[in-house]
Amino acid sequence: MESKGTTETNSQTDNKITRAQFTTKLGVIATTVGSAVGLGNIWRFPYETGTHGGGAFLICYIFFIFVIGIPVICAEFIMGRGTRSNIFGAFRKLAPGRKWYFAGYIGILASLMILSFYSVVAGWTIEYLIQSVSGSLALANPEDYHTKFDEFSTGNVRPVLWTLVFLLFNFLILRRGVTKGIEKMSNIMMPLLFLLLLVFCINSLLMPKAQEGLYFLFHPDFSEIDSSVLLGAMGQAFFSLSLGLGCMATYASYFSKKTKLIKSAGITASLDTTVALLAGIIIFPAVFTFNMSPAAGPTLVFEVLPSIFHHLPGGAVWSSLFFFLLFLASLTSTISMSEISIAFFTEEKKMSRRSATILNTAIGCVFGTLCALSFGALSDFKIFGLTAFNLFDYVSSNILLPFGGMLISIFVGWFVDRKFIKTQLSNDHKVKVRLMTLIVFCLRFVAPTGIILVFLNSIGII
Ligand code: PFF
Repeated sequence: MESKGTTETNSQTDNKITRAQFTTKLGVIATTVGSAVGLGNIWRFPYETGTHGGGAFLICYIFFIFVIGIPVICAEFIMGRGTRSNIFGAFRKLAPGRKWYFAGYIGILASLMILSFYSVVAGWTIEYLIQSVSGSLALANPEDYHTKFDEFSTGNVRPVLWTLVFLLFNFLILRRGVTKGIEKMSNIMMPLLFLLLLVFCINSLLMPKAQEGLYFLFHPDFSEIDSSVLLGAMGQAFFSLSLGLGCMATYASYFSKKTKLIKSAGITASLDTTVALLAGIIIFPAVFTFNMSPAAGPTLVFEVLPSIFHHLPGGAVWSSLFFFLLFLASLTSTISMSEISIAFFTEEKKMSRRSATILNTAIGCVFGTLCALSFGALSDFKIFGLTAFNLFDYVSSNILLPFGGMLISIFVGWFVDRKFIKTQLSNDHKVKVRLMTLIVFCLRFVAPTGIILVFLNSIGII
């Protein structure tokens, strides 16, 4: 429908690439995986799985990753690399004179909401890193970890302080620009985190009640699949893949002409899902071995992991290394979500990068503080029965990201010229594309209908 505009834009944008680019193939994968892998896999996936009944949630989650997630990543990659713009600019260039770019506002709102509550949890990792290094994380009983976390998170000073410190780190890296800092950090950090998770996995598989934990994680009880499981699993898929808000589009705008989009999408989704599964395999055997509740909610991982480390020889070293890597993994994710609003402020609003970064950080500090205090001083301040932290998490992950993803898939599936899609997927006809029809089919029909059905189901209409 937009054929004239889009092919023109395509050749224009491909000819004069002025933006920075990732330098290596590994850089592309490490940075997109760096964005995808973070607290969403290691903190959010286990607690969501735990509160939604285990295996039933996992099945739905994997289904959404492959049937909706991968096609929508491809759609974001096509928009980002094809236009060399942030999500706003991409909508504008691909549909000139139309109001599609409004969908970009959803992404900006979602990214700032996620930055706020995500920084709080990243702040918790700083606290636990310091406690691991100082040796004060070694406690006698698993229940003590619950008490310890409760005392810490309900306080009004340290959770806020660490949230702000984390945002300061985020700010400092963002100031250096996209490719330099992030690519280097991700190249080293991601493989190391992966290795460490493998070691912990083996340790958990040797625990006395490993079988019970694995049964909980992998045995689906289909009768447990209800609207909240479906909505939660869909939200988790979008959250974990950093999808639906233009983050992947923004990163793809830095891809080189040679980056294979479908392959990169597949690798990103597979590695991201693998890390989530590893986290599940680490957590649930321990939950059952230490007689904890899998449904503890957001605090689950911060109570279970220290108990695991405590039982390992050289526990303090493992624990320090782990929380350090988790802190870095959180940084690579917050950097990617911050790039959405920074790219918008600089490219659309013509702000300097410095001012844009300051504005992004300032918003994070204000709302991050609100979220940090929602476990303590502001725990009674509720909107729709949810604290600020839970509200930001729920609204962004379960509503804004899938809604944004739906708009992106409808846009690319129905409104972007097929030739443009093909040019992008085939790197200007230099590589063969086999899955294009399937991807376009998913973008046109499967993803939008799936997302609408889950929404309607969750508000009780079907
Ligand atoms: N995918 C990240 C995680 O799993 O931790 C979270 C995230 C990053 C969400 C970037 C959204 C985003 F734009």
